[in-house]
Amino acid sequence: MRLNFAQRPLAGELTVPADKSISHRSIMFGAISQGTTRVHNFLPAADCLSTIEAFRALGVTIKQQAGEVVINGRGLKTLQPATGTIDVGNSGTTMRLLLGILAGRKFETTLFGDASLNRRPMERVMTPLRQMGAKVSGHGEFPPITITGADLTGITYEMPVASAQVKSAILFAALQAHGTTTIIEKAPSRNHTEEMIQQFGGQLTVEDKMITLTGGQHLTGQEVTVPGDISSAAFFLVAATLIKNSHVTLKQVGINPTRTGILTVLSEMGAAITTQQTDEKNQAADLVVTSQPLCATKISGAIIPKLIDELPIIALAATQARGTTIISDAEELKVKETNRIDTTAAELTKMGADITVTPDGLIINGPTPLHGAKVASHGDHRIGMMLAIAAQIATGETELAQPEAVKISYPNFFHDLTRLGGD
Ligand code: S3P
Repeated sequence: MRLNFAQRPLAGELTVPADKSISHRSIMFGAISQGTTRVHNFLPAADCLSTIEAFRALGVTIKQQAGEVVINGRGLKTLQPATGTIDVGNSGTTMRLLLGILAGRKFETTLFGDASLNRRPMERVMTPLRQMGAKVSGHGEFPPITITGADLTGITYEMPVASAQVKSAILFAALQAHGTTTIIEKAPSRNHTEEMIQQFGGQLTVEDKMITLTGGQHLTGQEVTVPGDISSAAFFLVAATLIKNSHVTLKQVGINPTRTGILTVLSEMGAAITTQQTDEKNQAADLVVTSQPLCATKISGAIIPKLIDELPIIALAATQARGTTIISDAEELKVKETNRIDTTAAELTKMGADITVTPDGLIINGPTPLHGAKVASHGDHRIGMMLAIAAQIATGETELAQPEAVKISYPNFFHDLTRLGGD
């Protein structure tokens, strides 16, 4: 795909796609609860469709109809063994959270994914699920993963990584376990699973980094309205900040505080982003962004899990900021859809950025003018979208290989970029 320097400012309103994390979980909670769950504004992107197909393979009736997904939940105990292995595509969230659900179901299931997912570490969920009593094995620590569920026992588990996927897998297993499970997080990560357990009628307690849940709870189907995904909005927050005279409104974006690290960091860098029309019930708001010059910042510690998926686009912003931006404590980026420390640095360097890779992050000197180049998404949706935004501020033409990767979370990304004035 060929992309060019944006000749015009970005302008207008945009409704970004629904939140991917909440869309996955709405199917999962619907499938394990009793009664009907209706999901409004579900994200029909490849990753979330993998979750729907996985639960259909386990015998759950799920209908996709105009504007909503309807799940006919009959409770955890009615999940059926799949007839074959289950392909979860590119979706780490589907694989890891589903393992937590299957840990308590007494049949064998094998999950596998695409080439990228089959290189991603699963030990992080296998270890606690084994401690709870499930039998789980892989190709070493990689997929395909075969799990045989069992009667589970609650555990106390201090997480070695800050990961919402690991936390969520343990919580799904804990719902089925005898006794109480306590999870101690390394740093608070996105809390959608905790919130949805309560929304579906379950109980847990959260005290700072400690989550406690007792097994054997009864969940009931609900109506879920999914807000826009701040991780998708992030690309336009940065694009409109960087392209002079831009003024963009992103409608009803999720602003759960465990996800808004990018708003904190961009505002520290000098960006002009305001929050309007807040919908408290759905934790969503319109984000209004106008272009501003940026200055460098330091990003490390507890904020990292709150912006982990946004670091590639924040790195692009840093290439245009005055001074040296240092991103550290972000080694988790190495085990995403690609090693995002390496792919971000390598691809932006081709466009003229001054970026150094460190063991746990990036050092970025700015501002550096970017120029068009031949770049690649490496099959990673967020790298592809970041590079498409980079192309808007780069002189000359950029050729992006594997642009179709965006379908994982944002199928209409290029359409939306063009509609706001991008090229
Ligand atoms: C997600 C958690 C994060 C994030 C991923 C979605 C989730 O992964 O990067 O895109 O929905 O729980 P980790 O838990 O591995 O950090």
